Amino acid sequence: MLCEQELVDKLQSIQTWIPSLNYYGDPIGERTFRQELCHFFQDALHLDNDVQLTPDRMIITGGAAGAFIVYSYMLTDVNDAILVPSPYYSYIDHNVSILTENQIIRCPLLNQSTGKFRLSREIFEHGYIEAQSKGLNPRAIILINPSNPLGDIYDEMTIRPIFQFAAEKRMHVIVDEIYALSTFVTECFQSILNYNSSLPDPDRTHFLWSFSKDFSLSGARVGIIYAGTAELCTKASKINFVLVPSRNIQYTFEQLIANREWIHAYIALNRQRLTHRYIQVKSTLETIEGVKIRQSHAGFFIWADLRELLPDKASFNDEKRLFEHLFNCAGVFVLRGHTLGCTEPGWFRFIFSVNDTIMTEALMRIEKALTQTYCSHFSI
Ligand SMILES: Cc1ncc(COP(=O)(O)O)c(C=O)c1O
Repeated sequence: MLCEQELVDKLQSIQTWIPSLNYYGDPIGERTFRQELCHFFQDALHLDNDVQLTPDRMIITGGAAGAFIVYSYMLTDVNDAILVPSPYYSYIDHNVSILTENQIIRCPLLNQSTGKFRLSREIFEHGYIEAQSKGLNPRAIILINPSNPLGDIYDEMTIRPIFQFAAEKRMHVIVDEIYALSTFVTECFQSILNYNSSLPDPDRTHFLWSFSKDFSLSGARVGIIYAGTAELCTKASKINFVLVPSRNIQYTFEQLIANREWIHAYIALNRQRLTHRYIQVKSTLETIEGVKIRQSHAGFFIWADLRELLPDKASFNDEKRLFEHLFNCAGVFVLRGHTLGCTEPGWFRFIFSVNDTIMTEALMRIEKALTQTYCSHFSI
């Protein structure tokens, strides 16, 4: 969203129509687009030279949401459990259970004794036991890297033990890297596409990405699956026939990503603007009494600790009242932790990737709502 005009100008300059776009296409996405995407990921994700991506393992689908639907169709069955670290982008629950009656098991990142949010093998070990105790079959893990809502980037040292655990239990791992190109300027990110042959169970390790975040083109509904094996993609073609985006949008995006020079410049500019905005919004929010900001490394959001603004031993009901106060009195929509599966009341996710005018107005209203108005209108 911070590069909206640049994207509109670019897309308007390449929008064209050719006769083949009139007709049905490949149910897993046009081969030329998949081929171009292999080059794009190779380049944009800085993959090593020995990594050879193939269009045979790729599916173009209806956004990341479509990718989750397809993955759950390909990999899970009734009574299967999918383990997800929480808090997380919880709309996934809906996506994965549309076609298959599986269940999400949340694995809290918040360590009760340290009070810190930390990804570890242990949280999945607990989730695995919980799933079994509910009579479910733990089938897959979903990892969101960089994380939404924390903005954490998980490095190889952190992720490897989780892959190892999944391999021991013959579980699939789906890695959602939808914010891979939205890391702040000084940050490093390593895609699982770069782990290559060193993965403990490559056939069960799957990648997911979409144009919705790194390009802020969520309206286009173009998501990408890079599955562990080409056979899975063949299986997916039956369901993807109804999810595959139009040939027109695939053709347009193929041309967009083929222009390497423009893509490099766009990614750099976008990361620069996100970083600048993050620093600016973080420092403004930190001036408000009772607001603490957890350091973020990527994405469009700030994970804020507002526990000091809630009563002692606050409940999720208290958190809800603060959410309603911000929404009803200030007209600002901020997701509360409970919605994202956070296990402790008082955490909120603030989005900062909006235009300057909205951001300035929102910050003013938030400050007002959390200080004078909050105290006089809202008894705690
Ligand atoms: C981590 C994550 N995954 C998936 C999605 C869904 O993306 P899409 O619009 O491509 O369906 C989102 C959207 O916010 C997201 O944050």
